[in-house]
Amino acid sequence: MLRTVILAAARSSRVERLVATAPFTRDVVRRFVAGEGTDDALRATRELVADGLAVTLDNLGEDVVTAEQATATRDEYLSLLGALHTAGLTPAAEVSVKLSALGQMIDEKLAYDNARAICQAADAAGTTVTLDMEDHTTTDSTLDILAKLRKDHPGTGAVLQAYLRRTESDCRELAYAGSRVRLCKGAYREPESVAYQADRDVDRSYVRCLNVLMSGDGYPMLATHDPRLIAIGEDRARWFDRGPDRFEFQMLYGIRPEEQARLSAEGYTVRTYVPYGDDWYGYLMRRLAERPANLAFFGRALASK
Ligand code: FDA
Repeated sequence: MLRTVILAAARSSRVERLVATAPFTRDVVRRFVAGEGTDDALRATRELVADGLAVTLDNLGEDVVTAEQATATRDEYLSLLGALHTAGLTPAAEVSVKLSALGQMIDEKLAYDNARAICQAADAAGTTVTLDMEDHTTTDSTLDILAKLRKDHPGTGAVLQAYLRRTESDCRELAYAGSRVRLCKGAYREPESVAYQADRDVDRSYVRCLNVLMSGDGYPMLATHDPRLIAIGEDRARWFDRGPDRFEFQMLYGIRPEEQARLSAEGYTVRTYVPYGDDWYGYLMRRLAERPANLAFFGRALASK
């Protein structure tokens, strides 16, 4: 119930204004977001890479409504990739991209052209791009754009969301050699017609999808903080003899950092998803919805003012 309310608030510009101007918000945002500028992104990446972690960087923003905004997002990624390369942080760091921030809602071709420019810059920087997955109305369009991008940029990866009923079948389609698939539970509010609603059904779907990916020929990226699913991932890695170059674990910046360090120390490849930028509202609300206990941060930050 609380999750539904928070995800509804994520779409409300009124609540956004309230949250953005609240005096305690900055402290809460800092836990989940590396900072606002490219320098902050580079600093966080340097620290994580020094600790033996790989990184994927997300320039925060989504649902842009003008072509100019979409071009500005593209340009931010181009300059980020150049900076990562110059700093010697590729290929340890790659980028994650939301197609809605590149104009998917305005014109699919515009989003594709912008994404292609980012893939070209990633190639030049010696690294890769992964397409984030947004709500279910965009899944087909995102997978179509992925297929087109992969023709010239075969390293391009995509996210699949275990809460969608279609995802086990999408995993089968994408479990081919060279295909990078990031499997997560899914963070949006979705109707029952397309998505499992109960946590246990989402978890079961995650395990079925994980089995398809780990037994397939592609490169699975297991994006979860869930201890049971991580243990199942470790088990399947042993079973399918997948070493650290044949799959990876992924987690979000600021969430279970001690588990990220433990897995890395065990010899697994672990990648941290690092968001940065000033358009953090939608991202923050999804993190709060996943774990309403995080609202306690708001409470504590408020109490300390
Ligand atoms: P679950 O939410 O059940 O959490 C398991 C445990 O992890 C919790 O008990 C808690 O200990 C810890 N935890 C989880 N979330 C926490 C939080 N916010 N704060 C503190 N602790 C927390 N989704 C999407 O729809 N599209 C996408 O493109 C992506 N991309 C993506 C990339 C990467 C690298 C990750 C890790 C996740 C995503 N997600 C995503 C988000 C994903 O769908 C999901 O919402 C979150 O990962 C939370 O789900 P868990 O699998 O961690 O399990």
